[in-house]
Amino acid sequence: MLKDKKIILGITGSIAACKAAYLIRALIRKGAEVQVVITPAGKEFITPLTLSTLSRHPVISEFFSNRDGTWHSHVDLGLWADVMLVAPATAASIGKMAHGIADNMLITTYLSCKAPVFVAPAMDRDMFAHPATQQNLNKLRSFGNHIIEPTEGELASRIEGKGRMEEPDKIVEQLENFFASQNLLHKKKILITAGPTYEKIDPVRFIGNYSSGRMGFALAEICARRGAEVTLIAGPVSIATEHPGITRIDVESAEEMYLEAITTFSDMHAAILCAAVADYRPETVSAEKMKREDKEAITLRLTANKDIAASLGVLKRKGQILAGFALETKDEMIHALDKLKRKNLDFIVLNSLNEPGAGFRTDTNKISILDNKGGITDYTLKSKHEVASDIVDKLQTLLK
Ligand code: C5P
Repeated sequence: MLKDKKIILGITGSIAACKAAYLIRALIRKGAEVQVVITPAGKEFITPLTLSTLSRHPVISEFFSNRDGTWHSHVDLGLWADVMLVAPATAASIGKMAHGIADNMLITTYLSCKAPVFVAPAMDRDMFAHPATQQNLNKLRSFGNHIIEPTEGELASRIEGKGRMEEPDKIVEQLENFFASQNLLHKKKILITAGPTYEKIDPVRFIGNYSSGRMGFALAEICARRGAEVTLIAGPVSIATEHPGITRIDVESAEEMYLEAITTFSDMHAAILCAAVADYRPETVSAEKMKREDKEAITLRLTANKDIAASLGVLKRKGQILAGFALETKDEMIHALDKLKRKNLDFIVLNSLNEPGAGFRTDTNKISILDNKGGITDYTLKSKHEVASDIVDKLQTLLK
């Protein structure tokens, strides 16, 4: 799985830097190409000579290696890599990565890197447990970075606790698993709807909802990273898409989203309907801005929008997989199961507004997946990228 993979290994100033030597050896043995980027503090723990000998490449540490005007391009390096692994990652470097403090070659490379990033923290127990570190790690998770959890044991400070960098073999295993999952959606066409819809009242007003689109965009990103050709139909959101595997269609209203979904679905292997589609729209749209005119109250007559999920459920052919979401405030399971059946879905992702950290406008989510064979899986609170991975794992098992 790692054969010919181009790996940037970022090393920061921790005693665990000594494990980087084993890590490089294990990666090279698997056929990977390793380019080390080390911070100035990292060099205090392991010498560039050791690292360049093992990786068979000069080690990069400074922007300017000579005083002759030549410099290392972190941009080229970031584009070269298939994956970036920061191991060991200190609390300081994690903080800089989380906040874009690009004051050394490693962090500038991280910011330029388009490839997936893995981070293996290594630090003292209390530093790891500190809310600052935990918040920074959550921030990295929200960027889609993969955190390789440190293990528990004796630390350099002689304190026992969680903070030891994961062992090199285990890190290599995680990278292998990651690349193994990459191609599982190769050539699969997946439709994703995301974000809210805006239902026009007049030229300046609309009926909308709090959906940010983050969950749907994370799903699109994960599917694309696993090799799928994604069509993302997005309601009005302020998120950019960068992955070349994503074709984005921007829409505003439920009707526009419906038309795009209906025309694209027949070509798809699967659809994940994540959008918070308005159930109703104003029956008439005022051509001019509606005036207050001292009315005590006004009435807007609403008419039902088409249910995209239910419509695709009718069109679904054998072998096509259809997944939906349910966001409920009460009797969650009952409503989710009802939607699963009524809309002819293969599985439904239930998230509750009652769970702290789940639902709209958060970076995290807590879900359960209910499938049409009666299976129910509950997941813990995770970043929306990690949740998206779990959902796409489920989709993959059904597409096989
Ligand atoms: O709105 P409701 O709770 O029924 O949404 C459940 C699922 O149906 C979601 O996956 C949502 O994207 C989808 N849906 C849809 N078209 C609608 C309403 C909901 O595709 N008009």
